[in-house]
Amino acid sequence: MVTGVDIAVVGATGLVGQEFLRILEHHPLRINRLKLLASKRSAGTNIKVRGCSLRVEETTPESFDGIDFAFISVSGEVSSQLAPEAVKRGALVIDDSAAFRMKPGVPLVIPEVNGSDVEWHEGIIAIPNCSTTQLVMALYPLHRANPLKRVLVSTYQSVSGAGKAALDELRIQREEMKVKGPSIPAVFPFRIASNVIPQIGDFDTYGYSEEESKIIEETRKILHDPDIKISATCVRVPVTICHSESVNLEFTDPMGVRKAHMLLDNMPGLKVMDGSGLMPYPVPWDLQGTDDVYVGRIRRDFSVENGLALWVVSDNLRKGAALNAIQIAEEVLNRRVLKK
Ligand SMILES: NC(=O)c1ccc[n+]([C@@H]2O[C@H](COP(=O)([O-])OP(=O)(O)OC[C@H]3O[C@@H](n4cnc5c(N)ncnc54)[C@H](OP(=O)(O)O)[C@@H]3O)[C@@H](O)[C@H]2O)c1
Repeated sequence: MVTGVDIAVVGATGLVGQEFLRILEHHPLRINRLKLLASKRSAGTNIKVRGCSLRVEETTPESFDGIDFAFISVSGEVSSQLAPEAVKRGALVIDDSAAFRMKPGVPLVIPEVNGSDVEWHEGIIAIPNCSTTQLVMALYPLHRANPLKRVLVSTYQSVSGAGKAALDELRIQREEMKVKGPSIPAVFPFRIASNVIPQIGDFDTYGYSEEESKIIEETRKILHDPDIKISATCVRVPVTICHSESVNLEFTDPMGVRKAHMLLDNMPGLKVMDGSGLMPYPVPWDLQGTDDVYVGRIRRDFSVENGLALWVVSDNLRKGAALNAIQIAEEVLNRRVLKK
C-alpha cells in the first residue's frame, strides 16, 4: 500500500509549476518528500509550500533518484531530455509538454474521460494540450450518448497558455501603450495587447497551426476514435487566464438542447451555465482560479442536421494543466499502477 509519495516538480518556477504548488496547498495527496526543480537560472530561490520554505534546485538526472512521481512542466525540448532520465531512475513521469502526447506507448489522459488508460503506462503519462482538455470534457458525455460525426472548434486562448514570458509581454505592452505606443513583440508574432492573433505555433503545409493539429490529433487519441472529423481554428486573445471555445457539433442522431444539458450536467468536473443567474454564460475573467470546465450558450445549430452549438471556458493552468496532472496521479494511486 502507498502511504505517501516522493514528488519532484520540474518547472516549479513556471506558470504551470506555480499553479501545481498552489493546488498542493489544499490537496489531500500525502507527500513524504517534495523536490522543487527548475533550470540553473532559478536554482537557490525559495518557494513556500505547505508552510515549509523549499529551495529550488537545478534539474539533473540524479534529481530523480528515489522519486515516485515526476511532474514535468517545461518545454517539450527540455522534457524530451529529462523525462527518460526520470523513468530510468524508476519515477513515473506525468508530463505537461507536447513531447510525448502522440507516442504510442504513452497514455494521454483526462481522468474523467479515459482514466483507465493510465493502466498501460510504460513510465510516462502525458496530459493533453490545455485547449484539447476542455473541449474533450464537453464532447465526451455527448459523444458517448450520440456519436459525433463532426466537430468545429474556434478557440480564444489566453496569454498564460504560452508561459510566464508571454504574460510578462502582455503586461509590458499594456504599460508601454499608455506612454509611448506599441513595442516590438518577442514571444508572439504580433503585439498581443489590444489584438487577436490567429496563429498558435508554426503552420504546417496545409496551413494548420501546431495548436490546431494538437486539438485534432489529441482528441482522437483520448476518445479512442481515429475517425472523428474535427476542424480547429486557434486564436490568441489578450486575456490573462482561461481559454474559451466556440464549438459546433454534428451528431449521428438528433440531439435536443435539454438532453445535451442533462448529459453535460452529469459529467464530473463540468458545470453548465444555463442562461440564468448572475453569470448566464461562462466568461474567462470570473472563472480564473476555478477547477471545472464550464459550458453555456447551448443551442441548436440549424445549419446542419442534428447540430448543436456550445461555448466552453476553463482555466488553462488548472484543469488545462496542473489540476489534470495531479488528478492523473490520484488515478494511478487508486488503480495501484504506481510501481514503487
Ligand atoms: N501554460 C499553460 O496553460 C499550459 C497548459 C498545458 C500545458 N502546458 C505545457 O506545460 C509546460 C510548461 O508551461 P508553462 O506555461 O508553465 O511555462 P513557463 O511559465 O515558461 O515555465 C517554464 C518552466 O520551465 C523551467 N525550465 C526551463 N528550462 C529548464 C531546464 N533546462 N531544466 C529544468 N527546468 C527548466 C523554467 O525554469 P526557470 O524559471 O529556471 O527558467 C520554468 O519553471 C509547457 O510544455 C507547456 O506547453 C502549459
